[in-house]
Amino acid sequence: MFAERFKKKLMLQRQAGLYREPPEIKAREGKYIVIGNKKVLNFASNDYLGLGVSKEIKEKVAENFNKYGSSSSSSRLVSGNYSIILRAEEEYAEHFNYDEALFFPSGYQSNLGVLSTLFEKGDTIIFDKHIHASSVKGMTLSKAAYYGYNHNSLPHLCKRLEGKKGKPAAVLTESLFSMDGDLLDVQAFKALKKRFGFLSIIDEAHAFGAMGEKGRGIARDAADIAVGTFGKALGLFGAFVLLPAGFKEYLVNFSSPLIYTTTLPEAHAASAIDILKIVAQREDLRESLYKISAVMKKGLMDEGFKVKGDAHILALEIGEENRAAETARRLFEKNIFVFPARYPTVPVNKAIFRIGMTAMHTKEDVKYFIDMLKMCLKNNNEY
Ligand SMILES: Cc1ncc(COP(=O)(O)O)c(C=O)c1O
Repeated sequence: MFAERFKKKLMLQRQAGLYREPPEIKAREGKYIVIGNKKVLNFASNDYLGLGVSKEIKEKVAENFNKYGSSSSSSRLVSGNYSIILRAEEEYAEHFNYDEALFFPSGYQSNLGVLSTLFEKGDTIIFDKHIHASSVKGMTLSKAAYYGYNHNSLPHLCKRLEGKKGKPAAVLTESLFSMDGDLLDVQAFKALKKRFGFLSIIDEAHAFGAMGEKGRGIARDAADIAVGTFGKALGLFGAFVLLPAGFKEYLVNFSSPLIYTTTLPEAHAASAIDILKIVAQREDLRESLYKISAVMKKGLMDEGFKVKGDAHILALEIGEENRAAETARRLFEKNIFVFPARYPTVPVNKAIFRIGMTAMHTKEDVKYFIDMLKMCLKNNNEY
């Protein structure tokens, strides 16, 4: 029964150009990855500052695992509530200017854990229609009522809020959107927050570390709760949630995705502290990231491509799913790796190349990418 069902559904995925078959990565060398016998330039990474491949961090993380061992061997609520984790959470709360912080094993789990726990039947959540899948999952598990507003349209959010006036409401959004690459208008959002008094939860997964003074992201002014991941600009793994007073105690007591999982090891917390110090100091990397991202965007626009994105995530419009997959395949032949984001990550027939810029990319890399993109589309009479 299962074999038949799987076969049928996988065949439909293939026909729709949606079949996923992640390539085997044999090695990672800075901005390159090795796939098969090819070393390709990676434009599909979230290692925005290059810290995930930095020697300094590699050594610190190795030292920490050597010192503390490989596992916490327990959930936080059983015997995993180590001092170093509590200290790291305090340092994150202080750095990002929140009352409290709570670490989760992943960003997915933190969105699931926070949203499914804080809200319940009778609450109303209003959300940007392009928030991450993990937030959607958390929100739907909560049993609250939820209403979407058009992506990054604050006038539409305002309409939604007027419709729900008087009712308690939370609003979910991102500061730098993971697929569209556009930024939340933080000041306008803050004004709405002031007017309607909702609880705001802003996912800063792609902004923390990479944007803002000392890597503090861009939405502190407007966020009651912020979600950050270690697996992107911070070059580690796991996630942290930044909270107002009282929320941590509640989550520790009621959040199933936190209670029933092995906590990240002490070595992770010690590494998180080391990384925070490095990230705070590396304005130079943030500056390089900002500049090279602008060079890529301008270069693509000058060549007539439709490209969106206000920072280091650029969304290059491709359209039909099979076209996106085929163009990515041709770029791979030219030693370029780029992610063709397709449904359900983006809407049907609106496939994009999600170009992830990093501080490791150079102007030469950008020129090569654009030249090869033109060539791949030209050979197919599409440019
Ligand atoms: C906006 C956003 N939130 C959360 C996550 C999940 O984070 P993690 O990869 O740590 O599970 C991602 C990652 O893909 C993301 O893009």
